[in-house]
Amino acid sequence: MTIAPRRPATAPQTPGVRHFPPGFTWGTATAAYQIEGAASAGGRTPSIWDTYAHTPGRVRNGDTGDVATDHYHRWREDVEIMADLGVSAYRFSIAWPRVQPTGRGPAVERGLDFYRALTDALLEKGIEPVATLYHWDLPQELEDVGGWPGRSTAGRFADYATLAARALGDRVKTWITLNEPWCSAFLGYASGVHAPGRTEPVAALRAAHHLNLAHGMAVQALRAELPARAEVAVTLNIHHVRARTESAEDLDAARRIDALANRVFTGPLLEGKYPADLLEDTRTLTDWSFVQDGDLATIHQPLDFLGVNYYTPTLVSAATGEGGHGSDGHGASEHSPWPGAGHVAFHRPPGDTTAMGWAVDPSGLYDLLLRLKADQPDLPLMITENGAAFDDYVNPEGEVVDPERIAYLHGHLTAVHRAIEAGVDVRGYFLWSLLDNFEWGYGYSKRFGAVHVDYPTGTRTPKSSARWYAEVARTGALPAEAGPGR
Ligand code: FCB
Repeated sequence: MTIAPRRPATAPQTPGVRHFPPGFTWGTATAAYQIEGAASAGGRTPSIWDTYAHTPGRVRNGDTGDVATDHYHRWREDVEIMADLGVSAYRFSIAWPRVQPTGRGPAVERGLDFYRALTDALLEKGIEPVATLYHWDLPQELEDVGGWPGRSTAGRFADYATLAARALGDRVKTWITLNEPWCSAFLGYASGVHAPGRTEPVAALRAAHHLNLAHGMAVQALRAELPARAEVAVTLNIHHVRARTESAEDLDAARRIDALANRVFTGPLLEGKYPADLLEDTRTLTDWSFVQDGDLATIHQPLDFLGVNYYTPTLVSAATGEGGHGSDGHGASEHSPWPGAGHVAFHRPPGDTTAMGWAVDPSGLYDLLLRLKADQPDLPLMITENGAAFDDYVNPEGEVVDPERIAYLHGHLTAVHRAIEAGVDVRGYFLWSLLDNFEWGYGYSKRFGAVHVDYPTGTRTPKSSARWYAEVARTGALPAEAGPGR
């Protein structure tokens, strides 16, 4: 049997159409707590997000992930939807408290069976499963004994990685240790707008280090269990930080936020050291003596690619008393997520915004990819999340028409393609998200899905952007214009 090539060599090249490289991965992404529901099924115990969401006043409208999109029961339908879309990969996360309740001891087979069945079904449809081990659902019992600011959590995570790899390593080739450890450390322990909702700046810095350590130990654990063909990575929400002006003060504010947002992770993970300016900037808070001998060597593991999540750039200045605010768009708090950077102001970049209030700026993604290439010339990149929330609704014809999302995706895919043309090794793109879902502190009020979810009934309705994305994924060709989106 001959397999038809994706695009016949003789196909006319329409001017302005951008063709992605053959083999480029086209995926969609989700995370366990945001979609699964079934919070206590099969022996699952509470994670920090269950506790946080059930604490009055934490999540908008009192929403919780108890039911979410009910993916735990409707996963077959969700796999069918992906197959209909024709995507080549699906990035999901494994719920730690579902497969190792309480974060200690043996794995629970019923929990693992859920992911075995899901991944088998994906493979049957020709969709590559990409598993994230940690998308923020720390077992509550581990938080009760210190959480990420405590060193022992790193060892617990490596044990969990071993259990997951033993159970799923025969079918999952691509593994991501952590999703956006910046959010876990600084939103979870400094500004408190994410679980566990603590507001202790030094604890946030300790958490960042122990997340780094957890990553390094987990990479070692995964490599010990997985076949040689496996690929292991981490996903960072690298902030593309811009200074509002070229003044020395504003440039220094940008440098400081770049250290706290990005280099606190890329330094140890990719270069085996914490940046000197970060240590200096935070010296009045901590002497970093929680970094023990040998930690940096453990953290600095070879990776097969770097996962990059991008939504919007970050615009900062030195605070002048006018304009700006202490937050960065992830939720308001009187506590800053930026330890030692109280004098930095954050500004809304110019241009259109999404329903999150985040500026739409694909140039940030392009610049970010080029910077990563300059810093790490040999490290392949994967866009593990990109997408946008808009106020989508089902119209009287039963359709969800979302031209703004199509325009957003078109702009950002153009940026990815331009970066590839400029020599950046970008291997794939995962649209966030397959489904509307529980958007953390915003609950169900923000819709990021390519597929609309009616929460009372669970009904799924692919939006026009889903059809648009399916066509791009199927052909590997990005049209010159976004189009009307119907
Ligand atoms: C990222 C998260 C993801 C989702 C998007 C909108 O920070 O990784 O779970 O909430 O933002």
